[in-house]
Amino acid sequence: MGRLAALLWFLAREARPSVGPPCVVDSEIGIRTLDWSVSMSERSYWPLKKYQDTYDRSLADPEGFWADEARKLEWFRTWDRVLEWAPPFARWFVGGQLNASYLCVDRHVRSWRKSKVAIYWEGEPGDSRVLSYSTLYREVNRYASVLKRLGIGKGDAVALYLPMIPELPIFMLACARIGAVHTVVFSGFSAQALADRMNDVKAKLLVTADGGYRRGRVLELKAIADEAMGLAASAERSIVVRRVGSDIPMRQGRDFFLHDLLARADLRVEPEPLEATHPLYILYTSGTTGKPKGIVHSTGGYLVFNCSTYRWVFDIRDDSVYWCTADVGWVTGHSSIVYAPLMHGASLVMYEGAPDYPRLDRWWDIVEKYGVTVLYTSPTAIRMFMGHGEQWPALHDLSSLELLGSVGEPINPEAWRWYYEHIGGERCPIVDTWWQTETGGFMISPAPGIQPLPLKPGSAGLPLPGVDPVVVDDEGNEVPRGEKGLLAIRRPWPGMLIGIHNNPERYRKAYWERLPGLYYTGDYAIRDEEGYFWLLGRADEVLKVAGHRLGTLELENAAVSHPAVAEAAAVARSDPVKGETIVLFAILGEGHGPSEQLKDELRAHMRRVVGAIATPEGIYFVTKLPKTSSGKIMRRVLAAVAAGADVGDVSTLEDEASVEEVRRAYEQLKKAV
Ligand code: WTA
Repeated sequence: MGRLAALLWFLAREARPSVGPPCVVDSEIGIRTLDWSVSMSERSYWPLKKYQDTYDRSLADPEGFWADEARKLEWFRTWDRVLEWAPPFARWFVGGQLNASYLCVDRHVRSWRKSKVAIYWEGEPGDSRVLSYSTLYREVNRYASVLKRLGIGKGDAVALYLPMIPELPIFMLACARIGAVHTVVFSGFSAQALADRMNDVKAKLLVTADGGYRRGRVLELKAIADEAMGLAASAERSIVVRRVGSDIPMRQGRDFFLHDLLARADLRVEPEPLEATHPLYILYTSGTTGKPKGIVHSTGGYLVFNCSTYRWVFDIRDDSVYWCTADVGWVTGHSSIVYAPLMHGASLVMYEGAPDYPRLDRWWDIVEKYGVTVLYTSPTAIRMFMGHGEQWPALHDLSSLELLGSVGEPINPEAWRWYYEHIGGERCPIVDTWWQTETGGFMISPAPGIQPLPLKPGSAGLPLPGVDPVVVDDEGNEVPRGEKGLLAIRRPWPGMLIGIHNNPERYRKAYWERLPGLYYTGDYAIRDEEGYFWLLGRADEVLKVAGHRLGTLELENAAVSHPAVAEAAAVARSDPVKGETIVLFAILGEGHGPSEQLKDELRAHMRRVVGAIATPEGIYFVTKLPKTSSGKIMRRVLAAVAAGADVGDVSTLEDEASVEEVRRAYEQLKKAV
């Protein structure tokens, strides 16, 4: 993209209500945060030179560097080779053997941490549970025994469709203990979405609950699970966790209550020594095709990368109380609620329900109740709270907080400042962590554990050791500092996905074809003069609604599966709270007329097919979609109409349409909606 287009993009972005200019350093906050050393005087962060030396060494001798990091874990067998790189496939710590559940629980029960709190769990209705590391250890063993007795073993796929209750991480660790591969499906997804994932991984078992609480209501998970079981032939059995106590139908011989199975479970199951390259889990995420991709993560590389990056970024101490507000159903929950914190023997908070239930101060109540020191959340949540005013956090004593984190979407400087002032009391650095489902762990982030740098609100800062990002043009050439381009990664890192489940070709295509020799992230970014990265949103056809990834094609497929819809196009509209929302343009089939009722039906249909996160905010019925002469939908025209804005600069024509064509299409569509 040329300079002019980049400039226009900046201006357009600036005009959006809540997004500030990305390259402005807030000198006031910059100066304040230089004083990290004062507010975090007990922390042992490294001098900048040490960070720079470490970073340089990590790139000069990646194998030596990562071997040193890997030695900080415990292995049943040491690796023979640190890295086998047959582009684009990387295998880390080949020949090594380890076990994730051993690292997350067994290791701690052999130390004083056995009586340390592992999980402070808070249920939405106000009930709570506290699990020590020894309790967690016992439960992981018993659950592993339950799995084994149901015939689950190494390499078998287990689908976990659970609300945010302790049973979810326990089942993940139980799977990891015996080498079964878990696929967690976010409990907001529909029966169809669950079944699609179960079919793709050929899940032998589905674990679900009788229900979960959300905003005071019960989410009927078992009913959805039943429907999914009917659509997924491979799943022979299901385990049901009692959470809400509702009366649910259980199919004899297929469905089992967890508590019944636990009554007969063994107390001890030896952790299976697993090859470093054994898959730890498969997690689905949206891409540019209609079908979500099953991202496969390894055991060794993934755990090493997560253990180190988590230490650098969150600088967890034994007296830290860490709370990541994500759902375990997303990668943030996998890496930053379960695996990394538990490997570190941290005390973590897990909350079941909605942030505004029963009141808008629920989160701040939880921070105060448990004395949370590290809070990790999303820009959407911050903007939501910001919109309701600082009187809500002000009701609580938040002085325990020391460090704040942000993830999932770019954080606009305004939200950054609000977070810094009203949640962090102007004491706490904010780590804006850039990463992806595919990267497994943090890639670019301020890292209080290792770099005492001034923060720039809205920038994710510098790359972590071992991570080699670059901003490039369409041909893969590095662009000058300060210029917008595509974010790519130059070399493999241990947390890198090992593939897309059952689809090596798609893996190659999605990540390694677009830019020769580089991992393509799908994000736009700018690197400034001081080397800081500014993330500018997706460059591909992926939406980020409240931090959740959704592919436009996936949404369009869902829309056309409604009998009244002949053709559809989904685009993003920027939103002051959620970052982006979905706007759908639909052409109706013969015999169907536009109506408000049909809009409601279509919304309900999308919720049923994908899940509530796929509900379009705006729906326009049109008779024609603007297309180029080669038949490609002109998305920028749709996006401009959805935003109520002018179509803007059309000098760069990614859509392969002429300026005239774009303008004409825009005017026509504008009239039509
Ligand atoms: C976006 C979430 C800006 C980005 C961990 C990326 C971010 C996508 C940030 C991955 C951040 C994530 N600043 N953008 N700090 N973190 N993103 O797979 O577009 O759900 O490509 O992983 O989220 O989303 P995913």
